[in-house]
Amino acid sequence: MPPDTAPASSSRDLRSWLDLVERHGGLARIGAEVDPVEELSAITFLGSRQPGSPAFLFDKLTGDGMGARVLSNMLAASKERYALAVGLDPALPVRELVTETRRIGSRRIAPVEVAAAAAPVRETTLAGDDIDLTRFPAPKFWPGDGGRYLGTGNVTFIRNPDTGVVNGGVYRQMLHGPRRLGLNMVPGRHGAQNCEAWWKRGLPCPVVTTYGVDPAMFIAATQVYAHGESEIDAAGGLAGEPMQVTAADLSDLPLLARAEMVVEGFIHPDDVEREGPLGEFHGYYSGKTDLRAVIQVERVHYRHNPILTAALMATWPSCEIGEYHAVMRSARVWDNLDAMGVPGIAGVYVYPASASAAGLMVVSMKQLYAGHVAQVLALAAQCPAAAYVIRWIVAVDDDVDPTNIGEVMWAMSVHSNPADDIDILRKTWSYRTDPSLAPDARPYGSKALIDACLPHRYRATQSRRARLSRGTYERVAARWAELGLPGAAPSITHFHED
Ligand SMILES: Cc1cc2nc3c(=O)[nH]c(=O)nc-3n(C[C@H](O)[C@H](O)[C@H](O)COP(=O)(O)O)c2cc1C
Repeated sequence: MPPDTAPASSSRDLRSWLDLVERHGGLARIGAEVDPVEELSAITFLGSRQPGSPAFLFDKLTGDGMGARVLSNMLAASKERYALAVGLDPALPVRELVTETRRIGSRRIAPVEVAAAAAPVRETTLAGDDIDLTRFPAPKFWPGDGGRYLGTGNVTFIRNPDTGVVNGGVYRQMLHGPRRLGLNMVPGRHGAQNCEAWWKRGLPCPVVTTYGVDPAMFIAATQVYAHGESEIDAAGGLAGEPMQVTAADLSDLPLLARAEMVVEGFIHPDDVEREGPLGEFHGYYSGKTDLRAVIQVERVHYRHNPILTAALMATWPSCEIGEYHAVMRSARVWDNLDAMGVPGIAGVYVYPASASAAGLMVVSMKQLYAGHVAQVLALAAQCPAAAYVIRWIVAVDDDVDPTNIGEVMWAMSVHSNPADDIDILRKTWSYRTDPSLAPDARPYGSKALIDACLPHRYRATQSRRARLSRGTYERVAARWAELGLPGAAPSITHFHED
């Protein structure tokens, strides 16, 4: 859909969000000079080993020739920074963040177009041979990485030439030269499919790639939407207001007007470079180097002192694919199940500590009929939002909070009989460096479906759960302070009478 042309009034962008985050105590500014080669990532890794650690804004990078800054640990394991990015209450527990995310995630708000003069990203434009991307402080994250990565926390836009819909995705970019940027799109990604559609027409693929975006745009670009859906409209929905775009020089792709930096270019078929490896979200390097697509860069637009965003890939909680991703992915799986008409879902949570929400997913459900659990497990495991990698899918009853790992372990330990309650799906979608698979089996993975619900066929004869009576709970909770106990009594959702 073409953008509206109403004037935009908001100044929402990465900088305004950083101000908000700083007021909430979630930003550490690092003024001392830091080398983007390994030092920036080491500080980010060590500084983020505890959940709730701040985002890091590096002001002075060794070798920087552009006055650029770098932001790392942007959203990562912080549910508070996620909430601030999408206008939710940062004090909400994760379970409620998932339900609130479904509400705001259902909105779609088309972007508004602003004039070039009103687009901060056009403060400076470089063209042709004036461009030298090697002057920007692109980080090298891990000692065994194949090079420096200008793009890890950025968003790449490619239009589908058949439908006209613009896709936004986060795909890493190794820096190959002053005007050459790698682009690593996993086969099957919508960006990869759109690119191939241009090549099938015998045309180079126009591309715009964008650094330092509104975090709502970044979050939307990390999620799987239907191929015909626009991530820019989804980002507007999450933000509660339209993204601002302005016209590009070389294509009809949108430039995010308030981004920190935008690159315009083309991806030519057969133009490839050796890419990788990169230390990845699963804690290993991404295998060997491979031949990957290249963006031939024709324009660079940027704001004064642009803030580049560096997404460290590491084990939780230091990975940039963190809590926001877990919350969004959980909400999207629940949406997918609803869209298929599956009844009785009470909650979904994909654990961020399970290799950045790629390992363990728990679905809480009210059992309504025989076979209901098997249906939920199979559909949840293979719905579009969960099909990629998630290996352990656990169904629990609706009195189990899926975000509480202690309650989930109780349900698995008490309700699941491994001989009867585990099914396996084979030849599922995994990744080409999956450490759990023999190299010649990759990338075909598998998924375990674990029924940790009270078995349906014995429900009628099973003795009751031992629970507090509602009256006693309310009396004790009311006397909590009088009893000299700290805080408030924990909330309880199910009682003896239920
Ligand atoms: C920080 C970060 C880095 C990512 N890097 C890549 C990458 O290099 N290649 C890739 O294909 N997907 C990568 N992803 C996952 C995709 O961004 C994600 O699957 C997204 O949905 C892709 O968009 P698409 O479904 O429109 O293709 C990354 C995600 C995050 C959050």
